[in-house]
Amino acid sequence: MRTPIIAGNWKMNNTVEEALSLVRELKETLNDVKDREVVVCPSFTALYAVANELKGTNLKLGAQNCYFEDEGAYTGEISPVMLKDLGVEYVVIGHSERRTYFNENDDLVNKKAKALLQKGLKPIICVGETLEQREAGETETLVRKQVFRDLDGIEPYQLKDVVIAYEPIWAIGTGKTATSQEANRVIALIRATIKEMYSEKEANTLRIQYGGSVKPGNAKDLMNQRDIDGALVGGASLKAESFEAIVKY
Ligand code: 13P
Repeated sequence: MRTPIIAGNWKMNNTVEEALSLVRELKETLNDVKDREVVVCPSFTALYAVANELKGTNLKLGAQNCYFEDEGAYTGEISPVMLKDLGVEYVVIGHSERRTYFNENDDLVNKKAKALLQKGLKPIICVGETLEQREAGETETLVRKQVFRDLDGIEPYQLKDVVIAYEPIWAIGTGKTATSQEANRVIALIRATIKEMYSEKEANTLRIQYGGSVKPGNAKDLMNQRDIDGALVGGASLKAESFEAIVKY
């Protein structure tokens, strides 16, 4: 019922030429994939070139961040309008690296989510706990709080364009993955939170990804879990071979 969505978050990697060469490889191997959505999220600097390269393919374009205003005196920022203009469809917001290194909080993530939806773009909203929070038994409370705050004021009809990515911070780039059962448990909790905030209908249709050291070897097990609807892949999305293997789990 929910179409799986697998997105490659390239983070701060790849020059324009490198991005083009990766996306050319991906086009060859992934253009025939029909039963799942495949998204690549290059850096801002490569978006225009990659957008042109993806024309006429099944692959979708994502960005890794944005600001919430349309335009104006916000030096260094990129607006949803600008991303839309390039053919971007998805935008990752609230990634733990943005929350940690750039002090982004739920209030800002919420403003970005609303601005994106208003412009017809689809936010991939990242939530997840640190190791300390997990060890202190705070995972459930923290993740529920993030979901409540990040989605505050978003209307039920807009949820069809929202994706949530559960990314436990201790699993990002560390090679440690949450077990598929544990990832599913927290994702089911997020789904229950959506039911509480909206209704069963929205809870059943909202797509929730898992992210954090997803690799070809663990993708199938994760993706076969009942509540997991795809993956947000970092490191393994930088090589065509491993990203292809994950997409085709
Ligand atoms: P890794 O797959 O490199 O652990 O990164 C996950 C991530 O942060 C995706 O957004």
